[in-house]
Amino acid sequence: MTIRRVNAEERLTTSFPLQAYAFETSPRSVARAEEFRGYLPYNEGNRTLVVEENGVTLAAASAIPMRQNLRGEVLPMAGVAGVATHPLARRQGHVRALLHQLLDEMRDEGHQLSALYPFRPSFYARFGYVGLPAPRTVTFSPADLGGLLRVDLPGEVRWERVGEGYQDWRTFTERCLDERHGFAIFPGYRDVGVRDRDEHWLLTARSGGTVTGAVIYRIDDHGGTLAAGDLLAADPVARMLLLQFFARHVDQVERVRVQVPVDEVPELWLTDLAVHVEARVARPASSAPMARLLSIDALDGLAVGPGRVRVELTGDRWLAGSHLLDGTTGALEVVTGAAVTAAQPPAVTLTAAGLSALAYGVLDPVEIGLRGLGEVPAEALPELRTLFPRRNPYLFSDF
Ligand SMILES: CC(C)(COP(=O)(O)OP(=O)(O)OC[C@H]1O[C@@H](n2cnc3c(N)ncnc32)[C@H](O)[C@@H]1OP(=O)(O)O)[C@@H](O)C(=O)NCCC(=O)NCCS
Repeated sequence: MTIRRVNAEERLTTSFPLQAYAFETSPRSVARAEEFRGYLPYNEGNRTLVVEENGVTLAAASAIPMRQNLRGEVLPMAGVAGVATHPLARRQGHVRALLHQLLDEMRDEGHQLSALYPFRPSFYARFGYVGLPAPRTVTFSPADLGGLLRVDLPGEVRWERVGEGYQDWRTFTERCLDERHGFAIFPGYRDVGVRDRDEHWLLTARSGGTVTGAVIYRIDDHGGTLAAGDLLAADPVARMLLLQFFARHVDQVERVRVQVPVDEVPELWLTDLAVHVEARVARPASSAPMARLLSIDALDGLAVGPGRVRVELTGDRWLAGSHLLDGTTGALEVVTGAAVTAAQPPAVTLTAAGLSALAYGVLDPVEIGLRGLGEVPAEALPELRTLFPRRNPYLFSDF
């Protein structure tokens, strides 16, 4: 049994057929197999590893070199995708071996974070990942937006196919990456898939010539649904400009559906807006994302409150040892090695998922103990809350 990295052309006969079996209608048609070649450019920079035995591919896993915002810092992130094992080779440790090597290599290349969409969160919890919030799906009738039609807003919208306006879309998501905790975007070679497929309308809000909001959508039928992706808006004016455009579809579609981050409150958007807000998480096909730190260096220099703790990292392949996390200057300093002595209290023990939960801001320190992700003595609780206040990461990219 060997693990090796496959090149672009080899994907056609190794990882793609396994992924198609795992994630698609199966058996695939001959025509479907022919479509594989068209996907190669969008996978070109991915790192794909396979397990092989006697020339048969037993398992595959890929990492996409992405970028993600962690509390204001944009860092290299390994997006894990296409994890699949041959049906006759499951439960033999192949994916465990693949993930170890894949994340070793991505970390060595400088990826300090990793994220994925799990088929079962407990599987990836064992690899140090912790759950992030799922986006909310918001459904409402365009009729309830009618009051917006007469509002004179500062700014305008542009409406075009995403194939035409793609560069504005990409530029605006880059801005979101810089500004929003948790936001992650694909490398260019993968992202252009949305432009090349050209299956969506792109609506952008603009103010003074600058794009301040964007959303892509499709309409399924007359009297049907205007189904949009993430409603990205830099400010309330931009959001209202986008909603005003949707209001013009009152006699065309029955409902509008958009995705929003967990901290968005659609019932406050407008008076008399009847709205349904939902997050549906189910195994295996509708999962909330997960993420983890691959390197303690991800924390170095983060803007934090003035807390100070010593952490002992345990039970993980990539995060280990004793570190002093010192936020007294407002920029987190990670001190490692001889300078971390037992004399510097308070001390906490954290698993990789425990540290990741604090860094991403998804758990309160007291939950770390409750969830079995570490041991946090009472005197460390206020320090950790000051260092890592709760935040709502918003991953955005769906892979
Ligand atoms: C899920 C899947 C990738 C697992 O691959 P695998 O090669 O069988 O996994 P491994 O044998 O390396 O298992 C690693 C560990 O997870 C455990 N595990 C495997 N499948 C599991 C499952 N469905 N639920 C919980 N634990 C599981 C194994 O027991 C093993 O634990 P151990 O190290 O303590 O023995 C494989 O079953 C598959 O291809 N499924 C269909 C596609 C899919 O769902 N992919 C995941 C997309 S995120």
